Amino acid sequence: MQEDEGIKYDLWRDHVHLSLTRPVFFIGFMGAGKTSIARFLARKCGISSVDMDTYIERREHKRISDIFADVGEEGFRRIETDVLRELALIDEPQLISCGGGVVASKENRTILTDNGFVVFLWVDVDEASRRISDTSSRPLFRDLNEARKLCEERIPLYKSVADIVVDTTGRNVPGIAFDIHRMLEGRGVLCRQQK
Ligand code: S3P
Repeated sequence: MQEDEGIKYDLWRDHVHLSLTRPVFFIGFMGAGKTSIARFLARKCGISSVDMDTYIERREHKRISDIFADVGEEGFRRIETDVLRELALIDEPQLISCGGGVVASKENRTILTDNGFVVFLWVDVDEASRRISDTSSRPLFRDLNEARKLCEERIPLYKSVADIVVDTTGRNVPGIAFDIHRMLEGRGVLCRQQK
């Protein structure tokens, strides 16, 4: 990712008193930067963010890889749907970074589109694999060719629910967050509060 891109964000100073009109879901393949971008943007805007995988690990008292080992992908997907529904319905809207497979079920896709604004972070699988230092925590990213196939299968699903698509290839977190911030304001999802 380009280092100097973040300068745009440093030039932008008026970052207080912002709120969301609805939840914003960050979706995309593993390594797209969903968690880092949501967290960075949340900090800059003074709003909350939650990472679904972290939430699941705390709720289940287990790491994602252990959930896959114990109850399989199917069991993990059931937990993921419960958690998605729970987070989508929280009163105060927040930035929600979803697991890469959240779009696999129709039920989840409906929860996303019915309840929030969806940001699809696009990443090339080769770049994603360079960004992920430890694939042991991602049971579905252990083989590059398998990951490539999975990503290709999912692209139409990501696109089918996305309100905006952002290409993250070769870019850094502050630069991407800055652009998303502008788009969210433009769409009336992120608002300046009257004081
Ligand atoms: C998955 C992505 C992971 C995690 C689980 C399954 C997937 O989340 O939910 O390993 O099916 O793509 P990240 O996209 O945050 O790595």
